[in-house]
Amino acid sequence: MKICMIGTGYVGLVSGACFADLGNDVWCVDKDKEKIDLLNDGDIPIYEPGLKEIVSKNYVSGRLKFTTNLSLAVKDSDLIFICVGTPTSKNGSANLKYVYAAAKEISRNINKFKIIINKSTVPISTGDIVEKIISKKVKRKNFEVVSNPEFLREGEAIRDFRFPDRIVIGTNNKKVIKKIKVLYDPLIKKGATFFSTNRRGAEIIKYASNAFLATKISYINEIGNLCEKSGVDIEEISLGIGLDKRIGSRFLRVGPAYGGSCFPKDTRAMVVTGDKFKVNLSIIKSVIKSNNERKKLLTNRVQKVLLNKIKNKVIAFLGVTFKSNTDDMRGSTSLMMIPMLSKKGAHIKYYDPTGLKNEFSRLKNVKFCNDLATTCYKADLIIIHTEWDEFKSIDFQKIVKKKNFKIFDMRNLYSVNYMKKKGIKYFSIGR
Ligand code: UGA
Repeated sequence: MKICMIGTGYVGLVSGACFADLGNDVWCVDKDKEKIDLLNDGDIPIYEPGLKEIVSKNYVSGRLKFTTNLSLAVKDSDLIFICVGTPTSKNGSANLKYVYAAAKEISRNINKFKIIINKSTVPISTGDIVEKIISKKVKRKNFEVVSNPEFLREGEAIRDFRFPDRIVIGTNNKKVIKKIKVLYDPLIKKGATFFSTNRRGAEIIKYASNAFLATKISYINEIGNLCEKSGVDIEEISLGIGLDKRIGSRFLRVGPAYGGSCFPKDTRAMVVTGDKFKVNLSIIKSVIKSNNERKKLLTNRVQKVLLNKIKNKVIAFLGVTFKSNTDDMRGSTSLMMIPMLSKKGAHIKYYDPTGLKNEFSRLKNVKFCNDLATTCYKADLIIIHTEWDEFKSIDFQKIVKKKNFKIFDMRNLYSVNYMKKKGIKYFSIGR
């Protein structure tokens, strides 16, 4: 099939490359010339395991092309995916200016029947507005606007694309559903459930999914707080409740406040949508509050671990992104924790497998180290902030080379008994 992806951010680039890998001809379009030049030079603007290989394989085969020329790409394609960003506006709602700008540009370039598929995360009725914008220039019979929300996770995006639980299509047009089903057929054959509903339904499914997952995480984090005070191990609680198929075992890992570019943004946007429809989404409001409080709670906990003596303490910070397998700093707890510790006079050495972060470059006494050994050397406290595999079997005593150091493991990567046997002062979450 001939496909055009508008926007080469996370969703557009990963989906475009994976669609090409399924044998389709894909144009990836972006206004950002630098990004397109970079992609045409064989580089990848984001960190995503496995993506570079898929991009280069399909680029060489000629199935995947990058351009700034939207007109050329739209005219040459049958399916046009809108994959632009929907950042947070001042009032917490999703800013739709890039979606509407894309719709306008598409409308100027419709030369034959096109299916316009929205993959950007957008609130209810955005599809209706996109349809109106395009209708100003194009006859209704020459296009159809469909919603097809994306459920990829950063760091797992290729796997999530290839083996999705479900593919959600929002439209009532049976012919269009049939056509999109052909596109997704290779994934359906491998077990993905294809589900169609109306356009507004698909738009809500995306937000309701993210808000539900954020709720699940906040819930287990709060139960973790209870475990911590009552001498119970949260890991056993997660296992025990997750065995109930109605609850499910995934997304029950305790940790720092949830972050990233989606959960914080989408929960806020969902509340604004609720307000717009005069519906009080009180559970989601509580989740947002609980998550914000968690950032403070864990920051206080670091102070407690250090017995409130932070000045001149050497702190090794392992992993600063919002989770492992990504270079994304958005919504990361480290953005609050590291400046606070630096302000209180700590000397922070941080290491992240994805390299140095500009966010900390102006902070006093905060420096990036290239490896774990240099980061942990002579540290008073080691904070494990993300769950990279390389943090899971460290011989701390060998690399710290100092007595009485402490570890605060925010991802429960190690067992309490193991650390006890080693004689290391070890603190973790919910145990
Ligand atoms: C999330 C959703 O999982 C995707 O389905 C969705 O497509 C995406 O948002 C999006 O809307 O674009 P992502 O933000 O990449 O994906 O990352 P997640 O793996 O969901 O993690 C989000 C946050 O929750 C991270 O801070 C992570 O550390 C935290 N988390 C996740 C936990 O604390 N515990 C868990 O058990 C799972």
